[in-house]
Amino acid sequence: MKFGHFDDEAREYVIETPRTPLPWINYLGCNDFFGLFSNTAGGYDFYKDAKLMRLTRYRYNNVPYDTGGRYYYIKDGDTVWNPGWQPVQTELDFYECRHGMGYSVITGKKNGLSASLLAFVPLNDTCEVNSITLNNESSDTKTIDLFSFIEFCLWNAEDDCTNFQRNFSTGEVEVIGSRIYHKTEYRERRNHYAVYACNRDIDGFDTDRASFTGFYNGLHNPEVVFNGESKNTEAHGWSPIGSHHLKLSLAPGEETKVVFVLAYCENPVEKKFEAPNVINKEPANSILSKFMTDEQVDAAFNELKDYWNSLLSVYNLESSSAKLNRCVNIWNQYQCMVTFNMSRSASYFESGMGRGMGFRDSSQDLLGFVHLIPARARERILDIANTQFPDGSAYHQYQPLTKTGNLGVGSGFNDDPMWLIAGTAAYIRETGDFTILDEMCDFDNKKELAAPLMEHLRRSFNYIVTHKGPHDLPLIGRADWNDCLNLNCFSETPGESFQTTGPSEGPVAESVFIAGLFVKYGKEYADLCKHIGLDDEAAKCLEEVAKMEKAIEKDGWDGEWFIRAYDANSNPVGSHECEEGKIFIEPQGMCIMGGVGIENGMATKALESVEKHLDSQYGIMLNQPAYTKYYLNLGEISSYPPGYKENAGIFCHNNPWIACAETEVGHGDRAFEVYKKTNPIFLEDIGEIHRTEPYVYCQMVAGKDAPTFGEGKNSWLTGTAAWTFTTVSQYILGIKPDLDGLRVDPCVPSDVDSYRITRKFRGKTYNIIVQNPNHVQKGVSEMTVDGTPVSGNLIDPELGGDSVEVTVVMG
Ligand code: BGC
Ligand code: NOJ
Repeated sequence: MKFGHFDDEAREYVIETPRTPLPWINYLGCNDFFGLFSNTAGGYDFYKDAKLMRLTRYRYNNVPYDTGGRYYYIKDGDTVWNPGWQPVQTELDFYECRHGMGYSVITGKKNGLSASLLAFVPLNDTCEVNSITLNNESSDTKTIDLFSFIEFCLWNAEDDCTNFQRNFSTGEVEVIGSRIYHKTEYRERRNHYAVYACNRDIDGFDTDRASFTGFYNGLHNPEVVFNGESKNTEAHGWSPIGSHHLKLSLAPGEETKVVFVLAYCENPVEKKFEAPNVINKEPANSILSKFMTDEQVDAAFNELKDYWNSLLSVYNLESSSAKLNRCVNIWNQYQCMVTFNMSRSASYFESGMGRGMGFRDSSQDLLGFVHLIPARARERILDIANTQFPDGSAYHQYQPLTKTGNLGVGSGFNDDPMWLIAGTAAYIRETGDFTILDEMCDFDNKKELAAPLMEHLRRSFNYIVTHKGPHDLPLIGRADWNDCLNLNCFSETPGESFQTTGPSEGPVAESVFIAGLFVKYGKEYADLCKHIGLDDEAAKCLEEVAKMEKAIEKDGWDGEWFIRAYDANSNPVGSHECEEGKIFIEPQGMCIMGGVGIENGMATKALESVEKHLDSQYGIMLNQPAYTKYYLNLGEISSYPPGYKENAGIFCHNNPWIACAETEVGHGDRAFEVYKKTNPIFLEDIGEIHRTEPYVYCQMVAGKDAPTFGEGKNSWLTGTAAWTFTTVSQYILGIKPDLDGLRVDPCVPSDVDSYRITRKFRGKTYNIIVQNPNHVQKGVSEMTVDGTPVSGNLIDPELGGDSVEVTVVMG
């Protein structure tokens, strides 16, 4: 069942009912200010950091679902309704929500009145703009009341929802004309406040939540709205809100627009006040002055559209599959931007208070983002490197606002170091900018320990070399990519964190996945060394890589697939010898992507085993058989009921590794089949089963052991976005940035005839036509650059002018 449709021309997903299986959300904001925006206008805003700088409140466990947002109430006679249906839930005559690139438009119609809410965050300003267009489509004059509503968060979101004994007394506001200022804690150490403004004169306001709703009422039946009269309340403690009241009259056919802006404002410490305890309004005046007219709002909205037009022109596919084009050209790249911005911090499944920026997560998110805005990827790489420890290990997470490592989680996730190499190598392949390697980056955020980025990569590489176990395979530490494989944890206490319990140094549990990762990115590190003239180091690295390959082939091979790990007692995990969890997906994908077993047949054998034991209708499961009981020696993985999350769920992030691995052995048909299975755009028709947004990937789909097989969870913030874009753009369609130029190396289904790709790369635009007259799956037989045949499949960056025509014939 579908709940909407794609409008590719507009680059929008059009939701046709407010009753989607789950809230289907969008992200507003590209730089510093962000909003989560659901199809019923739910969600919240924050500045830079969803935990520390939260402007508005949201409650995850609320009933009804998805309560709290920017709500506009219309009182038309006795009928009270919202254009986005929530929270009053009055049935609408028409409803539509269009989620676009950094903006959303919700339109509701009731009794001949149309109300359309456009919400976006302007490109370079720290605010959310809400422009409401009201249209009287009836033949009578309409006199209505319009009420706005947002609920302020007292900045630190975690404190906000726990420290009530203090917070119920700290809330403060100021109201001047149509502007409601939220200034809790401004009297002391904060030098920022929020302002919620309307561009018209208002007929009333409220800032005290209980007064607005009525004490035992809710947002679905607020007293003020149903009475049609604001109370002009000033909040003193409790829960400050912002609500404006406008009385409007519309002649038949008349249209009018009202603009509301929620902005974050900051003052220099010495200029905090204009009078004792009265906030300095200068920054508010300056930002609000940019969005007070409809023309200004249109201009800012067009600027945002132009920005996305330009970003999405970097990689553009024209193929015979509309679904594939839509995914590659629009939604997958869009999600890559969102994951780059959010890492794993704020979604409808991530509270914004827990995990901040992940070391491995952000390093991988770069892979799908770097072509869009390389300069921002560069900055991010340096931020990540700054949090690395001197021995090459890394803080697993850091806070986006402070950019310092998160002590609570600490380090000891032994795959982390290698991902920094992955991200940096991808950046250099995209840009050719080797100067990044000379940038000084702190260790552990300590200036005195700073060293060039290249030294950071070296320590990443050496960390693995110096942390091996009894089988000469890398020690796993607290966990590797699979956060839930906690082989040294042995936790028996409820509530104890699987990630931080038990020693991370000392024990002997080993990871074959990290071994594969080391082979893949160790080779990339050696390549970087070669390119900057460190030939000896490159040769030594390749020796280490070769040793690791041997160790995998010797002790990481189970006969038909790669073993997953060795536990703390040196017993295999993910082997036919195990009672449950006999085979895992991760080492099959990563070892083969590193090139292990391609020559000797292990790779094809392992991929056959994946298909035989792990594949399902909705994607490849993480492991099989699922764990049916808790294993002390395995940790969190066995804490999940069978079929969910890391315990035999379809963990979308690692499915593309199998697709990539299939391309390494030339299987274009199978690679594309794997690619399609978890692709939300190909699942649009089964929305009632899949349930999460059909325009973005989710982290996990319930596996076949789960009662809800096929159900998606944790949409948006997942490494799946970056990895599927890498897979489809580079490994399947074959446009691979290489240190020496652009390489064309497709591996496609045999029924593909041809396709065309426009790729902007290092200042030039490449128009590439790939033809497949003999219907092969892999291999390039001819390539011409501006009509001239060249040998091989690498386009020399020196060839051609600003626009280069490339023809590639497969065969
Ligand atoms: C999640 C991981 C997370 C871990 C620790 C797992 O269930 O899948 O993403 O890092 O829990 O919170
Ligand atoms: C999600 C985490 O963000 C990511 O870092 C991890 O690799 C996967 N879960 C698998 O556990």
